[in-house]
Amino acid sequence: MSLPVDAASASDSQNEAVSPYALQPVLHEPSAGDQWWRRAVIYQIYPRSFKDSTGSGMGDLAGITAELPRIATLGVDAIWLSPFFPSPQKDAGYDVSDYRGVDPLFGTMDDAKTLISTAKSFGIRIIIDIVPNHCSNEHALFKAALAAEPGSAERAMFHFADGSGEGGNTPPNNWFSLFGGSGWTRVPAADGTPGQYYFHLFDATQPDFNWRNPAVQEEFEKTLRFWLDAGAGGFRIDVAHAMFKKHGMPNWGGAPDGTPRPGFPFAEAPMFGQPELHQVFARWREICEEYPGEPVLCSEANVRPLTRLADWVAPGQMHQSFNFDYLRTLWDRDALAGVIGDSLEAFDTVDAPTTWVLSNHDVSRHATRFGLDGVALDLGDGIGPRDPQPDTTLGLARARAATVFMLGLPGGAYLYQGEELGLGDHTTLEDRYRQDPTFLRSNGERTGRDGCRVPIPWVHDAPAYGFSPTGDTWLPQPGNWAAFSRDLQDDDPASTLNLYRKALALRSELGLGLGSLAFFANPGLPEVLAIRNSDTIIVLNLSGAPVPLPAGDPLLFSDANGAKLAAMGMLGANAAAWLRATDG
Ligand code: NOJ
Repeated sequence: MSLPVDAASASDSQNEAVSPYALQPVLHEPSAGDQWWRRAVIYQIYPRSFKDSTGSGMGDLAGITAELPRIATLGVDAIWLSPFFPSPQKDAGYDVSDYRGVDPLFGTMDDAKTLISTAKSFGIRIIIDIVPNHCSNEHALFKAALAAEPGSAERAMFHFADGSGEGGNTPPNNWFSLFGGSGWTRVPAADGTPGQYYFHLFDATQPDFNWRNPAVQEEFEKTLRFWLDAGAGGFRIDVAHAMFKKHGMPNWGGAPDGTPRPGFPFAEAPMFGQPELHQVFARWREICEEYPGEPVLCSEANVRPLTRLADWVAPGQMHQSFNFDYLRTLWDRDALAGVIGDSLEAFDTVDAPTTWVLSNHDVSRHATRFGLDGVALDLGDGIGPRDPQPDTTLGLARARAATVFMLGLPGGAYLYQGEELGLGDHTTLEDRYRQDPTFLRSNGERTGRDGCRVPIPWVHDAPAYGFSPTGDTWLPQPGNWAAFSRDLQDDDPASTLNLYRKALALRSELGLGLGSLAFFANPGLPEVLAIRNSDTIIVLNLSGAPVPLPAGDPLLFSDANGAKLAAMGMLGANAAAWLRATDG
């Protein structure tokens, strides 16, 4: 709904200083702590799709280093690098065969060190993606386990078990893979007959480690130290919620009717959120604290509800955790207000910041999601040529507004490469190009995540939009990305790139990351979400028509489609604005 207010009546109401906005009590006070990670904006680089310096069609570390001056103009505090370790690449590098090396696809260890030190010279920390739940089936430890006997120390690094039923032909329990199909794969015994099964929460090429084994814990402590010694600014912890499995690995009920079902999240599942995790996190925190520069731990924990997630960032645990509830929220005022309030309330109980996030490499980009009204996408499900296609103009307008709004919230924020260019997914990628194991393991039933992982555009008229010198790309790019290319956006004041730059600079200048939060009540404007962060008022108009802004407060900043209207005290459709509170 939109309020039937025209520009004239809006300026009248401004003159009379009558405002439909009423400030509510402060919900979130700033923490007494002012550490960098409480307010950090962290830019996710998915190395294979960022910049290819060699012409292989695959992005690489040297490509990232070369672009650091440009990343620095964005104004981010750190870069989270998705995995670049040696890997058979069955899950785009989340199947690691050596945690302390660099895959030749991406370069060398020297390239990694150069990237870390060059980033440091720009004041940017590098956060390494650690994948502790599982490795690749080509990791030396798993190969040793396969070669060893049942019951051996080698097998005890993983979850090997005998099958049940006749001939042991039934998997040890009913757990399934989150990528589709059974979570158990059977291996031959030494004599060639069918032997034990091993568990993999993801692809069969990704065997899960047994975290109850102290030898596994030691391995990862070595890995953390290895990267901290190399200058890493911290770690993003992949699938942190699944590392420990419930004792005895009991069958899982899954859906309420008792049948297992695929998908996230599963608050009570026996492979998620086990209490033993917290001892490991505490140990990791101690290790980080031995190093200078406050290296950070950020968990990818798909845990619900938010009150439970708060345990993950309690004192002595991780510094941050992704806020997936925020990422999942649709273009809906009440849902957004609800998740913001719940997040701040939950995280405040443990004096931890929340990390707002709208896009990453596992979910359709927000410019695509917000162009698909009423369609709830689960993590891991993208959009393919047979699905309803998004309204890209609407999606981009909303995405820009959503980001401007998000960057006004107190706490940290994560950005995903390409969103600063306004990119949506490649939603018409043909099946023959798809590489995501979710697509392959579900026989195409699930589209998978390739659409949000496509190499990003740099130069509008170069082959592969300047991603690679040869024009090769590991996934094809959409044909209409020239307009999104960075070179066309660099000097265009109305571009999405400059919108991000402005928002990030102002956010830092105004100290919003370490700010407070109070909601406004605005009952006559049911599709407007307005908050006050310290002395800044942030208004998001989720409706399809202009609405009045709070009266009398000067405009600081608005996404470009609203500038003229804002001068008249109005905020355009699907737009966001920041204002300076006159009593501030
Ligand atoms: C979460 C990662 O973000 C995703 O890309 C990966 O497939 C799974 N974990 C398995 O490692």
